[in-house]
Amino acid sequence: MARLSEDVSRYFDLDRGLVDRAIFHDAALYRQELRRVFAPSWLFLAHESQFRKPGDFFTTYMGEDPVIVAMGRDRKLRAFLNACRHRGMRVCRADAGATKAFTCSYHGWSYDTSGKLVNVPNDEDYPAHFDREQWGLTEVAQLDTYKGLVFATWNPTAPPLVEALGQMTWYMDAMLDRDPEGTEVVGGIHKWVLEGNWKLAAEQFASDWYHVNISHASALMVMSPSGKGPRTEIVQTPGRQYTDPLGHGAGFPTHPKSRFDDRVVHGYYDYEALRERLGDARAEGPMTTGHATVFPNFSYLPVNGSVRVWHPKGPDRMEVWAWTIVDRSMPDEVKDAQRLYNLRTFGPTGIFEQDDGENWSECQATAHGFMAGSMTLNYQMGLGLESEDGIHPGTTGRLYSDGAARGFYARWRDLMNTPAWHEKDS
Ligand code: FES
Ligand SMILES: [Fe+2]
Repeated sequence: MARLSEDVSRYFDLDRGLVDRAIFHDAALYRQELRRVFAPSWLFLAHESQFRKPGDFFTTYMGEDPVIVAMGRDRKLRAFLNACRHRGMRVCRADAGATKAFTCSYHGWSYDTSGKLVNVPNDEDYPAHFDREQWGLTEVAQLDTYKGLVFATWNPTAPPLVEALGQMTWYMDAMLDRDPEGTEVVGGIHKWVLEGNWKLAAEQFASDWYHVNISHASALMVMSPSGKGPRTEIVQTPGRQYTDPLGHGAGFPTHPKSRFDDRVVHGYYDYEALRERLGDARAEGPMTTGHATVFPNFSYLPVNGSVRVWHPKGPDRMEVWAWTIVDRSMPDEVKDAQRLYNLRTFGPTGIFEQDDGENWSECQATAHGFMAGSMTLNYQMGLGLESEDGIHPGTTGRLYSDGAARGFYARWRDLMNTPAWHEKDS
């Protein structure tokens, strides 16, 4: 279905590091974003460990589309629109669970865990040509996993997941490949709503170490041994920021003594073995206190195992869904320590998370005014300072930089300006 789409080039001058604020609050741009950024991209759904036996399911969103992720009787993971083919009712109203079938609570159409329509009440009243085979749940075009993370896309023409992740996998492996057994989810999923555009969060996790010393000053004070303030090695930390041409980004301090913050987790790890497994560059960089975003709306923090999705809920609102993942081989008490550490720092009431949410919602609130909402924003930090450093794959710049944010918006702009597979006539 063709819709009027706007050329968004005028909102950016990325060579000069300028971004027009309209991209954060304009309702028409938001609708275009759902069509051209979310619908065509690979999106994070869940972790494989959430599905252990046939019938296990989990409901989430792809953009604003509600989806069910389910393990079929053949143990295959599939994802479908969580919308009944009859009148569009939400078919599954639970967050997660185990079932043999998804039965719509409106008129009772029932679908099995592979999405097939298996029961229709009063089906003798349907015409002879009514063919249940044609009325199964709408399935994603592609679903794949990367080291435990489940992604899917509606886009049949999207490149395979591993290509869409590109060189970002080297950085992701610093969290996903510490343990030959892989990772698993511990605890539940925290979900909370923030009055901010989803890109504020995705961009920050790709690119923003800059705010850490200022926004999180009190949290760093609490965590400092003297209690007086952030340690100099935190404030002056050397580090790098990775900018991926596909819009992904990661920033991380680089220090030979880079360590996990939680004492129990720190005590568990054999750092020499990790160096052996992941190489010095990863062990001294992205493995611990870094931050990262996989374009468009999946972010993670290796130091505490926080993985999160920024679900868009209109131009002015996002819903954050956050999981804790841990290495499978960790003893239970280490897993639990990591889970609690994540909650203390980046849970919905975490000492860092609250600072971030406050910033994003205040940025959004000021954008409601006409003058403030039409400002040009400055994304010039680190401009011209990016290079291939021979240590970290791809293009990296200084830790304090807007480089990955510029990369994120370059990718966003290009997708917004490109008709997606579903726009035949554009
Ligand atoms: S809307 Fe689902 S059975 Fe009618
Ligand atoms: Fe932060």
